[in-house]
Amino acid sequence: MNAALRAVVRASLKRGAEVIGFDHGYEGIINNEGRPLTSTSVGGIIDRGGTILRTARSKRFMTLEGRQTAVENLHAIGCEGLVVIGGDGSLTGALKLHEEFDFPVTGVPGSIDNDIAGTDFSIGFDTAVNTAVEAIDRVRDTAYSHERVFVIEVMGRRNGFIALEAGIAGGAEAVIIPEEEHNMKLICESLREASQKGKRSSIIIVAEGAGKAQDISDDIHAQTGFETRAVVLGHMQRGGSPTQADRVLALRLGAMAANRLLSGYRGEMAGVEGTNVVNHPISYVLSTEREIDRERLWLVSAMS
Ligand code: F6P
Repeated sequence: MNAALRAVVRASLKRGAEVIGFDHGYEGIINNEGRPLTSTSVGGIIDRGGTILRTARSKRFMTLEGRQTAVENLHAIGCEGLVVIGGDGSLTGALKLHEEFDFPVTGVPGSIDNDIAGTDFSIGFDTAVNTAVEAIDRVRDTAYSHERVFVIEVMGRRNGFIALEAGIAGGAEAVIIPEEEHNMKLICESLREASQKGKRSSIIIVAEGAGKAQDISDDIHAQTGFETRAVVLGHMQRGGSPTQADRVLALRLGAMAANRLLSGYRGEMAGVEGTNVVNHPISYVLSTEREIDRERLWLVSAMS
């Protein structure tokens, strides 16, 4: 997010605009927490995770009154447009400002979940996946040495994009995600078969929305008798220095969103499709479900 913020600020300044940053997202707009951002304000942050503006889940902004106050505050300081960086909730708020108040907005997809349509990748996903893969690699050392089954829980309340990508890259035996029914009997059966062929350790990845690592681990132990352990990666996936891919993505999308806003486009989100930066209406982005890649699901079972 910091890399995206840096891009929004510097691209806007280049076009002669003044930039105000709001601490705590929408909550900060309601509370008048805006402060001028200069090129220096966003210096030295490209390698920092999180956001220097900090963030909040604003309950007040979910009400019409809250949004009314926010728009009044924006007008009062002469703010002529807003770039919103965030996931589903943030983009929903941006669409409301666009549709209810005709306030000029553009969006930048920022979510480790990668569940936002209109872009192949959202900012943070690559870093989160790489963090998860590194953790899986570390856990595998114990799995192998102690001949255990490890169940590793990754983030993803509603979807399994992190689980699937990290599972493939981490060489997991099975990936359990919310989009796909899973059968514990079959999973245990394949663990037993693998064990009979001489495989002494296994790694199973579960997205938090599909089940708890501890429950699955207990279930596998009960069904197979194998020694099992559960690991929950949690918020470590949301922090840390962003990968090269995430930094470049954030810079490209942040700059595009700022440039489009300054060129008079409204209600759009910048995204990347293939190698191109594209722009889609936020209304399209929010009404489109991002599907899990079936080929990747097949890869997990084929490789295990
Ligand atoms: O929406 C992104 C996400 O990281 C989810 O994958 C995760 O379930 C959730 O946020 C965690 O939210 P919180 O930090 O509020 O517990």
